Amino acid sequence: MEYNIAVVSGDGIGPDIIREAKKTLTRVGDVFGHQFQFEDLLAGGCAFDAHGTPLPEETVTACKRADAVLLGAVGGPKWDTLPGHQRPEQALLGLRKQLGLFANLRPAILFPELADACLLRKEAVEGGLDLMVVRELTGGIYFGEKGTKETEQGLAAYDVEIYSEEEVRRIAVVAFELAMKRNRRLTSVDKANILESSRLWRRVVNEVAPAYPEVMLSHMYVDNAAMQLVRDPRQFDVIVTGNLFGDILSDEASMITGSIGMLPSASLNVENFGMYEPIHGSAPDIAGKNVANPMATILSVGMMLRYTFGLAKEADAVEAAVRNVLRQGYRTQDLMSPGMNAMGTEEAGDRIAAAIGK
Ligand code: IPM
Ligand code: MG
Repeated sequence: MEYNIAVVSGDGIGPDIIREAKKTLTRVGDVFGHQFQFEDLLAGGCAFDAHGTPLPEETVTACKRADAVLLGAVGGPKWDTLPGHQRPEQALLGLRKQLGLFANLRPAILFPELADACLLRKEAVEGGLDLMVVRELTGGIYFGEKGTKETEQGLAAYDVEIYSEEEVRRIAVVAFELAMKRNRRLTSVDKANILESSRLWRRVVNEVAPAYPEVMLSHMYVDNAAMQLVRDPRQFDVIVTGNLFGDILSDEASMITGSIGMLPSASLNVENFGMYEPIHGSAPDIAGKNVANPMATILSVGMMLRYTFGLAKEADAVEAAVRNVLRQGYRTQDLMSPGMNAMGTEEAGDRIAAAIGK
């Protein structure tokens, strides 16, 4: 098969890690007999520099035309003082919204090879850790009405958290479906003791639940969830939550797995078209220095193969290759520990590509 992939390298370490992810895909193509074509596109700070906008129209059009989107990272201090609508982050929000990518899947897996990098006590993660955060991505406070206004106390600013029943229902369905394929436990996270939007969220999740009698559903307030994630992360299988809570909890979940440099993500629309990216940022301080960890991006390619292209064997091969390289004792700088062999970004990409086999 031939697949066309829109590639948005973005800013900072974006180009460093995307280069290695392309290597992985090309190698998967060679081994399994597929053709992966790449179309490079601008978005983020680099697009602002070139075209005066973080998200050029032609990038959106090309992404819509492609079979999937691969994204590195956007943003950096150079663009931090721009007004809100011109900031590189707007490229991400714009792509998510315009491509209808409402379902963000963020798996947090503790690779046994990296157990030492985990910051929690050994007993808390004994036997490994494998949870999935399902974050609603095109609604909530990120996209609600926002603005500033003059008041008697000076300027005030506001962002509205708003969810419709339909928005909650469709993300709940995604989460229940995923739970069915995993350990059949779903925790819906909200702040229903305070927020009206959370009370609606909880009601709709409960309405969806009877269609999945085998899934054990529970509800948890977000403050408690933040605490439980570090107290006993193994109690979670699938977590479903809104845009803002999901942003925060997925960063937290990433750290209990050892390194944010290991976590991939998929952002999907109703047809399983998706954008795939690491959950970490653009790390401008290490850009171009051949030290960034490309594994989260390579694992994102694995998710692309699995979720959008339905190529499970190929996806397994990518994950196995990453683990193989780790098992051989090779570590990028962020994962380095005494006795391990250091490898740079390029070497990591080469080793993983070479380890891909049927
Ligand atoms: C993420 C990031 C983005 C978000 C930023 C860069 C806009 O933190 O993907 O988690 O807040 O969604
Ligand atoms: Mg985030």
